[in-house]
Formats: sequence, structure tokens, C-alpha cells
Amino acid sequence: MKVLIATDKPFAKVAVDGIRKEIEAAGYELALLEKYTEKAQLLDAVKDANAIIIRSDIIDAAVLDAAKELKIVVRAGAGYDNVDLEAATAHGVCVMNTPGQNSNAVAELAFGMMVMAVRNMYNGTSGTELKGKKLGIHAYGNVGRNVARIAKGFGMEIFAFDAFCPKEVIEKDGVKAVDSADELYSACDVVSLHIPTTAETKNSINYALVNKMPKGGVLVNTARKEVINEAELIQLMEERGDLKYMTDIMPAAHETFAAKFVGRYFSTPKKMGAQTAEANINAGIAAAQQIVGFLKDGCEKFRVNKK
Ligand code: 3PG
Repeated sequence: MKVLIATDKPFAKVAVDGIRKEIEAAGYELALLEKYTEKAQLLDAVKDANAIIIRSDIIDAAVLDAAKELKIVVRAGAGYDNVDLEAATAHGVCVMNTPGQNSNAVAELAFGMMVMAVRNMYNGTSGTELKGKKLGIHAYGNVGRNVARIAKGFGMEIFAFDAFCPKEVIEKDGVKAVDSADELYSACDVVSLHIPTTAETKNSINYALVNKMPKGGVLVNTARKEVINEAELIQLMEERGDLKYMTDIMPAAHETFAAKFVGRYFSTPKKMGAQTAEANINAGIAAAQQIVGFLKDGCEKFRVNKK
């Protein structure tokens, strides 16, 4: 059996070594395709792969067509919007993710961005502190929970909205559960986004919603760029010189944001929320173990597509 790691954005070497150990201990072979620049390289590498470990790499019908021996794809991470689930099902391929494995890393980066925003992008002027500020966590999943845990250390007042998580679950963590996104944005000085990209969430962070934030509001996005209505956010930030947007996923309109909102906008060059050795090890080894469990015992825990 051949297991391919196909990562445009590579794992730390220590994680690749750990994955190799798991795969070889199971008697399988490991192949590595990193930092590929052309889709053709991916199409070629998947030809004889029985299993693939990916990150945000696109697995579409063309990749699945080329991967004639493929049985399973594991997205080492949480969001699997980069995989065509219907096409995978049609090709008889199982798709899994590794929920929770990189969530602390993403949560820590959200705080890095919050501090940077309230300290005026480290430009030397007097900023503000996070202590005592109201933090809104938009979606209370694995990352959202870690954000809440860390926010307590900062002494923030914590609010959360999650349409799919019972209020009691949120409130048992000492977090105030609100009834709507509107309520969350109206209440909070800083909002940290942790929603996935779905048909419902695409473009949902729009002018009307962000405009509810109080003066000096900071929007932090370590989730997905597709959830932001970029044109409307640009219009709003033009009208409201007090708002800041910090993102780990470079917007399509990055040049416009960067030119218009100097000192109020920051984007990492490449999504790096999960770029820690710990997160790479956790998610990468979980992916390897899930592949071995699937190929040896038919274990389908964490499967995200239909059969
Ligand atoms: C995830 O969905 O797990 C995160 O967005 C991390 O994505 P990455 O593996 O591409 O860094």
C-alpha cells in the first residue's frame, strides 16, 4: 500500500518523520509531494497512491480520476471544503478529517492577531489592552473553545454564538451564549471567526453584520476567506475609520485592503494558523493512524462523506 503526503504547504519535518514511522510500522510505503507548483505534479503523484494525506490541497474530480488506486483521503486538519465530497463518494473514496488536532495552534494565532491589532500593529503608539474587553467567538467548535480558554487568561469578557451548539454547553465554560450573530457583533469589541465555509456561511460576514460592532471593533479571521463579503467589508471600512480587519487567509482583494487600510488591516502571507510543529505532529500522525485503521480494520471514524 502506498500512502502519499501531498502538501503544497509542508508539515514540519518532525511531523513527516512521525507520519513515516506510523506508515512504515504498518508495512506501507510513504511518498512525499511538497511545495508543488503545478496541478500536473499532483495528478502524477496520486496515480498509484492508495491513501493521501492533505492539508488545504484541492482534491477535485480531476485528482480523483487520476488516482485510480485511491481508497482514502485524510485532510490533516479541520475544514474539508477543499475536497469534493460528492466526487469522492462517486469514486468510492472515503474522506476523513482530523478534528481538534490543530485547534490550539489556530486559537493562539487569533490572539497574536488580537494583540497586534489593539497595539496598533506595533507602530509604537499607545494602544489598548485586551483585559476587560468583550470578545465574541463566532462558532463554538474546537478552535472556539480554545479561544475561550485562552481569553480567560487575558481577562476578557467572553461571548459566543453557535447555531449548532446548545447554549448550556457554551455556558458551562463560563462563556455567555447569545442568540444570534447580530447580538454577538453588537456586544463585542473583538470578534474572532471560527465558522466553516458552507453554502450558508459564504459571504455571510457582511456590511450589515460587521457594522453592528462598537467603535474601534476588531474582526479577526482565522477561519476561511470565503465567509467574508469582501466588497461589503471594504465599503464598511471606508465609511468607518475605526474598524480593523486581521486575517490569516489572504483576501482575494488583498491589494485593495492593504492600500486603503494602512494600520487597520493585516494578512499573513500564507495561512499559518496551523503552522506549528505541535499541530503538524498532532494532525499528521492522527491522519496516518486513521489511514492505517481504515486500510487494516475498515474503521471509518471521522468519515465526512457519504458512502
Ligand atoms: C484547518 O481547517 O484545519 C485549518 O484551516 C488549517 O489548514 P492548513 O492545514 O491548510 O494550514
